[in-house]
Amino acid sequence: MHRQVLHVVGARPNFMKAAPVIRALGDRGCDQRIVHTGQHYDRAMSEVFFSQLALPEPDVNLGVGSGSHATQTAALLTGLEAELTAQRPALVLVYGDVNSTLAAALVAAKLQLPVAHVEAGLRSFDPSMPEEINRRVTDSLSSLLLVTSPEGLSHLAREGAPSSAMHLVGNPMIDTLLANLDRFDVDAARSDLALPDAYAVATLHRPANVDDSVAARVLVSGLAEVAAGVPVVIPVHPRGRASLRRAGLGDVRGIRVVDPLGYVEFLSLVRGARLVLTDSGGLQEETTVLDVPCLTIRPNTERPITISHGTNRLVAPGEVGKRATEVLEGHTVFPTRRPPLWDGHAGSRIADIVGTEIG
Ligand code: UD1
Repeated sequence: MHRQVLHVVGARPNFMKAAPVIRALGDRGCDQRIVHTGQHYDRAMSEVFFSQLALPEPDVNLGVGSGSHATQTAALLTGLEAELTAQRPALVLVYGDVNSTLAAALVAAKLQLPVAHVEAGLRSFDPSMPEEINRRVTDSLSSLLLVTSPEGLSHLAREGAPSSAMHLVGNPMIDTLLANLDRFDVDAARSDLALPDAYAVATLHRPANVDDSVAARVLVSGLAEVAAGVPVVIPVHPRGRASLRRAGLGDVRGIRVVDPLGYVEFLSLVRGARLVLTDSGGLQEETTVLDVPCLTIRPNTERPITISHGTNRLVAPGEVGKRATEVLEGHTVFPTRRPPLWDGHAGSRIADIVGTEIG
């Protein structure tokens, strides 16, 4: 594979999806370039993932940083247009549903460069989520739709995607999870935070949950109910830090607020948890494979396979305490099956398809 494949990554959940694809393409001798947009820039949100996942250093970091959606997307478009015009790769690979994904797909399509979308076809059908807009636009601009979950194929077909563009490849985020399983050390996670055997982990960062002060207060009182039973560890995403603090998160007995953790430290903590409470996308998938009960504090999910096959259940913010207690007391049954092709080989399948595409 002598023609160049250019990966665009920028935000935390991109890195564990890109790692197995970059490795598999590297094994096939592919010429690759890694562009980091700089959407996430704190060491704990970016650099630590590159070192723990042995990702090659990005060839360039566009340093776009934070801002409103328009400000951030405008900076992404400008930076990526210069980069893609200079490189003119044979294929642009984009991951997930963050603003960097959308911007890269748009720039590439306007430059008439083919786009491959890893994690195509997920739909929450909730237009109030910025990620849903990013997914739909990215898929509509991509000539290779690399799908992680079977229902993605039907969503894309319904939207008119040609079947020749769609490939069910499995889940590269789960490749990364399985490849690192031996490094997830529950005892170390417990002893680092002086936790007992039974504890819960929570992550919250969605605008609907943390940007609104009323919603944040409801969530904090739900978490306080959980913390009356078991300690709750919350690695706080920078987005929610201030609003969750104002809602009293740091004052609740039993709630342990910590800084964002590295990949290995975080998954070690999750692996040993009796329960995860989250509004993240990827964590719904990771808990399904780790067989850890997960309550997702959202009205919908773009990952329904984690409910039909896995340990995930949706929960309303006002019901967090009650539903968590049911799980902790063993009243909720999770008959789990591994979703199809979540087997650790998605990166190889993607690399084979990309190889055929670019010749
Ligand atoms: C983004 C994604 C979201 C994903 C999440 C994972 C979009 C629209 N959203 O949300 O889908 O689940 O990443 O983390 O792309 N900040 C820092 N340091 C950083 C990065 C961000 O302090 O390294 C703070 C800034 O105050 C920033 C805010 O977090 O304004 C939000 O960052 P942004 O990249 O806009 O979106 P996320 O909420 O991280």
